[in-house]
Amino acid sequence: MENIVWENLPFGYFKTDYNIRCNYRNGKWGELEITSSEYISVHMAATALHYGQEAFEGLKAYMGKDGKIRLFRWEENARRMGRSADGIQMAKVPDELFHQAVLKAVQLNKKFVPPYGTGASLYIRPLLFGTGAEVGVKAAKEYMFMVFVTPVGPYFKEGFKPVDIMISRDHDRAAPLGTGNIKVGGNYAASLVSLDIAHHSGYGTALYLDAREKKYIDECGPANFFGIRNNTYITPESKSILPSITNMSLVELAKDLGLKVERRPVPIEELEQFEEVGACGTAAVITPIRKIFDPSTNKVYSYCRDNQPGPISVKLYNKLIAIQYGDEPDTHGWITFVE
Ligand code: PLP
Ligand code: COI
Repeated sequence: MENIVWENLPFGYFKTDYNIRCNYRNGKWGELEITSSEYISVHMAATALHYGQEAFEGLKAYMGKDGKIRLFRWEENARRMGRSADGIQMAKVPDELFHQAVLKAVQLNKKFVPPYGTGASLYIRPLLFGTGAEVGVKAAKEYMFMVFVTPVGPYFKEGFKPVDIMISRDHDRAAPLGTGNIKVGGNYAASLVSLDIAHHSGYGTALYLDAREKKYIDECGPANFFGIRNNTYITPESKSILPSITNMSLVELAKDLGLKVERRPVPIEELEQFEEVGACGTAAVITPIRKIFDPSTNKVYSYCRDNQPGPISVKLYNKLIAIQYGDEPDTHGWITFVE
């Protein structure tokens, strides 16, 4: 503990003291269990291992100046995990069970919540997967829900500094009518090759296009995409992107700041016209984008004059983190305290 340099934390796994588990058997959820083991014993024929019956969530707990720990919009994560469960036929975790497990995981690991002012936070990772043994392709009858936490710094190592990204032309993360709109592990497995190509080419992440026509912007690695033009916040509408809770919140904050909001298909050509572009998500927060490289044309779209994030991205970022860390009033009712 003593040797954690909170300011330098990467976005990675850091062992904490406890995690929470709950099993679904005989058609019902059991009691929450607390454990300090980092390992799970699962049947070799568990459906999660063979057929990808697995979904996860990501949310954060923030330490305020007042010493209180805040959760940001956990209800939305619970709801989205419910949609993920439905999408791949898993048992649904009731909202209150989700809430209790998240609260317990944070309470028991309080000492790992990074102090106010370090820019770090406690990342909370709920996980739901099929533990029941099957060999034919079918949904399991048994599931495990668990929650672990880990203190993290910014997802892109630059933090709130502009990042360069690359359009993925040869890979899609999800099919047009597939699982792109839910948070299941398979989408992330499908993204690994394109992420590797982007990293090896010197880019922070991959920008995915709509899988059917490759005409529209979908999303940006593990984050949604937005562009700013003419005092308007523009973000893609697509059936194959994850409905980001951060993006949903930025839409509200943009309106509060007097911006117009458009959620609609965004053609690639529009990249030419944006004044600012960014990636947003729980892990990415807002990551301003400096350059977008399109390998099919060798075209580079550039933003961030003098390597600085644009003024509207700065305002949105400051507003969002002020609410999350409790520096500004929670006028939208997004915060729950961890007592
Ligand atoms: N898109 C993908 C593919 C993601 O994995 C995430 C992260 O959860 C997001 C977008 C951002 O969503 P949220 O703001 O709810 O974290
Ligand atoms: C998040 O933003 O919470 C994510 O889940 C991103 C992640 C896949 C690292």
